[in-house]
Amino acid sequence: MIKSLKISKKLENYIAEHSYELNPVQKEIINHNEKMGSQKKMQISVTQGYFFQFFIKSFNIKKVLEIGTFTGYSSLTMALALPKNGHITCLDKNKTTSEIAKNFFTKAGIQKKIDIFLGPALDNLIKLVNDKKKFDMVFIDADKDNYKKYFDLSLKLINKKSFILIDNVLWHGDVIDRSKNDKFTNIIREFNSFVKNDNRVEKIILPLGDGITICKKV
Ligand SMILES: C[S@@+](CC[C@H](N)C(=O)[O-])C[C@H]1O[C@@H](n2cnc3c(N)ncnc32)[C@H](O)[C@@H]1O
Repeated sequence: MIKSLKISKKLENYIAEHSYELNPVQKEIINHNEKMGSQKKMQISVTQGYFFQFFIKSFNIKKVLEIGTFTGYSSLTMALALPKNGHITCLDKNKTTSEIAKNFFTKAGIQKKIDIFLGPALDNLIKLVNDKKKFDMVFIDADKDNYKKYFDLSLKLINKKSFILIDNVLWHGDVIDRSKNDKFTNIIREFNSFVKNDNRVEKIILPLGDGITICKKV
């Protein structure tokens, strides 16, 4: 039995060739991010994007909240899978990357489906909770220090049977390396233990990209 495969760049390309077609603007964002040096790592992987699209279509998701948008790859990818009346609310504090993302959304013709709320995500999440907004799916991909707070607030923003997806939960594999005791590895470890013991959600960790947890509110 093969326990798990190491996904090489070649294998990732093979998966890409046998999954959905990338939209030209998705390709443009990938090329743009490639030129950003170490920041390019911020973007979700292409395989994760395919998974999101399949997930959104399979669970009839219409309203998405994204916490952490960067230059817009994940939000554009999700928007392309949403139905005509679907919508994404994006939260990010970086004005420059948010402007870049907005330009890409316009170029792809999906700008009406996406709003970006600029500012600290926590403030905007609290506003959304106070305004009694509800989403079918929340994608958490911003600062790791606030993951637990984002998770708790996100739970207030979804109904039962709706989803929260969280990126980077395997933290380059460091979560199992006991010699790694830096701040962020420990934050992710604590977050994963917290989610495991949280009986408000069903959950599974998938080894896609940098590791993604899928939670369903019970
Ligand atoms: C990993 S990137 C998101 C990548 C994006 N989902 C993609 O796939 O391209 C994290 C983003 O979170 C944003 N961010 C970090 N801390 C934040 C905060 N406290 N409030 C709002 N946004 C924050 C950063 O500006 C950055 O754009």
